[in-house]
Amino acid sequence: MAHPPAPRFPVAVLVSGSGSNLQAIINAAADPAYAADIVAVISDRPGVRALDRASAAAIPTAVVAWKDFADRAAFSNAICDAAQAHGAEALILAGFMRILAPNAIARFPNKILNTHPALLPAFPGAHAVPEAIAHGVKLTGVTIHFVDEEVDHGPIIRQVAVPIEPGDTEATLQSRIQAEEHRVYPEVIDAFARGRLKVAGRAVSWKELV
Ligand code: GRF
Repeated sequence: MAHPPAPRFPVAVLVSGSGSNLQAIINAAADPAYAADIVAVISDRPGVRALDRASAAAIPTAVVAWKDFADRAAFSNAICDAAQAHGAEALILAGFMRILAPNAIARFPNKILNTHPALLPAFPGAHAVPEAIAHGVKLTGVTIHFVDEEVDHGPIIRQVAVPIEPGDTEATLQSRIQAEEHRVYPEVIDAFARGRLKVAGRAVSWKELV
């Protein structure tokens, strides 16, 4: 008789926009062997395409609107409450354009992941792709990292380099960066969900599966 499938690790994906990274994770999770289960998709604003992608995949959604809260701490608590109400044990930031307050980091220590479209610590912030072009760097890329109290700063899990080609525009470079994100972010989330990522200070190591 076949073994029953192992329970998957429940995560909430936080979004603000198009949700192409969310879609890559949804597609990966269609494989029964994938270790993470998307139990909720939470947006800080209504009407974004990412919410439609979640609904199309029959994943519960919630909107925790930034403007409904007095401050960042109250907003961040409400995000955590919504995630935990759906049973999530980790937060996956996928194009989420808000900074979570320290109370959220305390509620999910080393359990919040983010993808950033540059090789951190270069080009933190919301304009990493045009800033890399404007600076004239020859290599940029993707950084998947744990989220800590500082913006785009937490322990780095994985990086992939993307060369900047002559004539690149923000759109052409962004599309090559996103192709890499869509490939590696679901892989990292699977490793995280299997408990393979070990954090010691700023150093993240990948445990081998036994
Ligand atoms: C991604 O490129 C991510 O690195 C950045 O925002 C973008 C989100 O894109 N933080 P999408 O919403 O996943 O399509």
